[in-house]
Amino acid sequence: MDLLRDAEIDPSPLAGKRVAILGYGNQGRAQALNLKDSEIDVVVGLRGSSGSAIEAESAGLQTDLLENAVASADVVMMLAPDEIHAALYHEVEPHLHKGAALGFSHGLSVRFGFIQPRPDLDVFMIAPKGPGTALRSLYKQGKGMIAVWAVEQDATGYAAGIAQAYGSAIGCGRAGLIASTFAEEAEADLFNEQAVVWGGVPELLIAGFETLVAGGVSPELAYLECVGELKLIAELIEARGIAGMREAISNTAELGALLGGKRIVDEAVRERMAQILAEVRAGRFADELRNEEASGYERLEKARQEARSTLLDQTYRSLKETE
Ligand SMILES: NC(=O)c1ccc[n+]([C@@H]2O[C@H](COP(=O)([O-])OP(=O)(O)OC[C@H]3O[C@@H](n4cnc5c(N)ncnc54)[C@H](OP(=O)(O)O)[C@@H]3O)[C@@H](O)[C@H]2O)c1
Repeated sequence: MDLLRDAEIDPSPLAGKRVAILGYGNQGRAQALNLKDSEIDVVVGLRGSSGSAIEAESAGLQTDLLENAVASADVVMMLAPDEIHAALYHEVEPHLHKGAALGFSHGLSVRFGFIQPRPDLDVFMIAPKGPGTALRSLYKQGKGMIAVWAVEQDATGYAAGIAQAYGSAIGCGRAGLIASTFAEEAEADLFNEQAVVWGGVPELLIAGFETLVAGGVSPELAYLECVGELKLIAELIEARGIAGMREAISNTAELGALLGGKRIVDEAVRERMAQILAEVRAGRFADELRNEEASGYERLEKARQEARSTLLDQTYRSLKETE
């Protein structure tokens, strides 16, 4: 595997450079603070109306309006939500220096054409494989989070060096940087979100819970069985891999998993997974995301409200109260 660690990474492409972080949310906050602690000159770029300026400044970060931050920077990281990137890039492009580097933590907006970066810019990606809270807490513990790196456009000849030095400065070089492309990262990430960890797994938990409740089992027990045990398996897989996890559980659970797992995830499920991957690659999800933003996030708001009123969520809350 092509995995780069700090020992192989030259930090000098970022030396003396100024980095503008656009957005102070999940990733923006963590990356800005990690850069500052790595002694990189960093400024957080925010809209005039942003409530995040006070928080960033009280954490010791310099802030400025988007256009000023961009105009003062050699490296600009797009850390606002993906569906905002087109409008945000349009707003800041006139302020980007010739030959500046434009960075992303997800390949989506470049892969699916939300942005067509100016030809004189270096365009790179450092995509930490986890949330900003964990990126920050690992950094503070002297550890790092694995990240994917890529170069989409190398206008100056230094894009790869800047990407790697940036990954190292936010702490990801301690765990490793995996080489990829914007297209591969974006497609794999969107596939996983829909078909596996964020889409498939929760729906499997809900279906299991509802099947047990319909079969006469109390909601509390159904919840503990179908949802509550997820953390245990996640930790076992993280520590031992899937084969090691299976060896660590009881023979009863292992045999049950062997007999039941492939009946649930059968060929029809795999075919639908392949269909989702093809749709992602054809840009169908990117269109959905654009439409969702344009509608003021109507579907997401409705789904959030519905999820809060389910028996499963009520059961979760009543079990939490007993803790
Ligand atoms: N979340 C994750 O765990 C994660 C993991 C890996 C990669 N990523 C990637 O990291 C990037 C950032 O995601 P995120 O989850 O960190 O985003 P986020 O938390 O939703 O970003 C919020 C920040 O974006 C700013 N923002 C929103 N709309 C804006 C606009 N129109 N103009 C300027 N700023 C605007 C907000 O400004 P205000 O302060 O004014 O509200 C806020 O500071 C995305 O490309 C995402 O795919 C995320």
